[in-house]
Amino acid sequence: MTDKYAVIGHPISHSKSPRIHRMFKEQTGEDISYEAIEAPLDGFIATIERLHSEGYKGCNVTVPFKFEAFKFATELSERAQSAQAVNTLRFDASGIFGDNTDGAGLVADIEHNLGISLRNKRVLLMGAGGAAYGVVLPLLHAGAHIAVANRTAGKARQLAVAFAGSGNVTGCGYDELGEQQFDAIINATSAGLSDSKIELPETIFAPGALAYDMMYGRETPFMAFARAHGARVADGLGMLVEQAAEAFFIWRGVRPDTSPVLEKLRAA
Ligand code: ATR
Repeated sequence: MTDKYAVIGHPISHSKSPRIHRMFKEQTGEDISYEAIEAPLDGFIATIERLHSEGYKGCNVTVPFKFEAFKFATELSERAQSAQAVNTLRFDASGIFGDNTDGAGLVADIEHNLGISLRNKRVLLMGAGGAAYGVVLPLLHAGAHIAVANRTAGKARQLAVAFAGSGNVTGCGYDELGEQQFDAIINATSAGLSDSKIELPETIFAPGALAYDMMYGRETPFMAFARAHGARVADGLGMLVEQAAEAFFIWRGVRPDTSPVLEKLRAA
């Protein structure tokens, strides 16, 4: 019998996840189905309970339900706990396992697809909201030294305190960055959605630095700024595919080859 999976969000029609998981299915021969389901804003739990009772094996969870999924899970991975957010649920006989594959996806994209080791690298993480929390622990585990900068500086400092026991992480406002240089600058803010520019010092990129925007599908002001200052620029499409592959692995115990999938999405 085909095992059923889905991605739940609101809105969800734009999601590339069904396409990605269908490609994983074709590649691995795993007998699964995967669909996109839009839950009403006040109907996430009801939707999950319906899927559970209909025999679905798990689901991905996206905006704005990742915190509700975190609360709904009966067992959590360490990275879901640290993110305070869940993007992958697996329905087990013993309960509902919640994980967060976003950070692992980001690290895999940077290290494997872009070929850049994060060990002992100076990383500037822009933003201190849900997207930033989701990636800090995997970045620290990869050996990065993280400075978090945020428009509301207090939230960056709070994030740094929350992760102080897990590695090298500090928090500040953008105006406190001074002359510091970074090997990788990762945009985890939602500023790009409104085409807002975040003021960064012109000298922020170390030679050969990577500028990574977790968004995909548009050139953000951050990407344009980075390009103009000689940085190597990447968008978040690779992270999307890698976080999906990690979810597929959690469900199926099989790791898909992400490179042909990423190539097809880029070509589309
Ligand atoms: P997400 O889950 O996408 O992280 P969020 O939790 O609302 O969403 O966080 C949005 C992040 O983008 C925050 O770090 C926010 O900065 P503030 O904490 O100061 O609000 C940041 N952000 C959004 N719009 C921004 C802008 N125009 N300039 C700078 N930072 C912005």
